[in-house]
Amino acid sequence: MADRPIVSMRGITKRFPGVTALQKVDLDLYPGQVHALVGENGSGKSTLCKCLYGMAAPDEGSITIDGTPREIRTPNRALRLGISAITQELTLAPALSVTENILMGRLPRGRFGIDWNKAHALAREALDQVGANIDERTPVANLSVALQQEVEIARAVSSRSRVLILDEATSALSEEATERLMGKIHQLRSQSVAIVFISHRLKEIFTCCQRATVLRDGQLVDVVDVDKISESELVGKMVGRTVEDLYGKRSISIGETIFTVRNLSTPDARVRNVSLELRSGEILGIAALVGSGKVQLGKAIFGAIPATGEVILDGKSLALGDPRIGLLAGIGYVPDDRKRSGLLLTRSVRHNLSLSWMISGLLSRLGVVRTKSETALAADCVKRFAVRTPSLNHPVVHLSGGNQQKTILARCFAMNPRVVVLMEPTRGIDVGAKSEVYGFMQDMAAAGAGIVMISSDLPELLGLADRILVMYQGRICGEFDPRVCGEEDIAHAACMGKERIVEGGS
Ligand SMILES: Nc1ncnc2c1ncn2[C@@H]1O[C@H](COP(=O)(O)OP(=O)(O)OP(=O)(O)O)[C@@H](O)[C@H]1O
Ligand SMILES: [Mg+2]
Repeated sequence: MADRPIVSMRGITKRFPGVTALQKVDLDLYPGQVHALVGENGSGKSTLCKCLYGMAAPDEGSITIDGTPREIRTPNRALRLGISAITQELTLAPALSVTENILMGRLPRGRFGIDWNKAHALAREALDQVGANIDERTPVANLSVALQQEVEIARAVSSRSRVLILDEATSALSEEATERLMGKIHQLRSQSVAIVFISHRLKEIFTCCQRATVLRDGQLVDVVDVDKISESELVGKMVGRTVEDLYGKRSISIGETIFTVRNLSTPDARVRNVSLELRSGEILGIAALVGSGKVQLGKAIFGAIPATGEVILDGKSLALGDPRIGLLAGIGYVPDDRKRSGLLLTRSVRHNLSLSWMISGLLSRLGVVRTKSETALAADCVKRFAVRTPSLNHPVVHLSGGNQQKTILARCFAMNPRVVVLMEPTRGIDVGAKSEVYGFMQDMAAAGAGIVMISSDLPELLGLADRILVMYQGRICGEFDPRVCGEEDIAHAACMGKERIVEGGS
């Protein structure tokens, strides 16, 4: 390791109205080193990165690049200094093609304007480099969140930066794409790139990082060598307590079937003839690779997209393709793309929390709810879910990523739904909060609700679900009992579309 850092941040302080996001934080980034930033939701990780890639101006402190003090006022300035970032907030232009997004600001020009053949070829090269199987001519809006993230990675990698910031870049990626990214990180290290890595999946930190800076409440707690610390020690530093049993799986008695899905298909054939049953108190996991239709299945069950087939709740058949019907009937829903379909970003925390009640008309209709004001309900949600916000009137867009996710979960659980469809429920949530969310899910199940948990986090599915269905090319291809199967069994079914045959099994 070279002894001189590429980047030195000293005494960085950043205040927002009502919050001090960072207080006198230092960070050194060395060539060829992957440096993790870890801490709870809202501890200041993204803000520290933003100060480095020109999205936020620190109130105090200095940033030195290669020994020269620099003011980095805009992302463009950061790019010119060799600093690029892949962030929690997707920064692509949806209406533009993949090529235009990858080469933004760098489109090759010929004699008659932009040389599109060359542009597409360059974009293709960048996509191939990161192993992304995406048509470079498609508008970005047509891609899933996971594929959009791959486009961002291709863009960052092709801009040949010396400092690369990955702020939860893996959160929407499949296992396979995450592995490819890890490979890419390894390659960039050998080219002496300095990397900042943020992820709430500790496994990833322990796989690819050498150093870690721990933040708590905007303050630097410690800087550690990753190979000299255990997972539980690191968690202890992050949340100030140990998390013994993350899932805390309880034995909850499972009752009658309350919810049935029969021959559900979507017009685009992403979901084909899916049937499933959910019982009271049951947590049903659904696993699948990206692009296998699990997201569409969740949306179709809730009514967020058109579908054919039957969805029956407590013996009553529900009309399909209308999310209001789902809500009114008591189906709760947490979408996978909180930015696009989960939250009204510019509106307040209070408004977002009461959204489901408003849409379903419950706020005015049900006696229980009518007696409480919208404010009291929202305040209760914020407290129960420990959503970190300076006030209920704070716009959701200014919350940290994990706190936005907690807002959606709080809204869903507070409705006391009979059945909930949770997609990637703990994406972007810190370990401490994860164990709380798992607790809430089990409280709901214990109260008799049924939970459909669609997740790409296999340990989470195995740790929590009573039963796991695996989807392949739009169909259910296998059912597993988490007490007796492992990650490999599920991964195998998800990749091959059939259950693994164990030869000479004991
Ligand atoms: N633009 C903003 N306006 C007001 N407050 C903000 C703004 N950006 C961040 N904050 C606040 O600063 C604090 C730190 O947020 P930050 O996004 O850096 O957290 P984080 O560590 O990245 O969390 P997460 O793990 O949830 O992504 C939070 O309390 C957040 O609400
Ligand atoms: Mg963040």
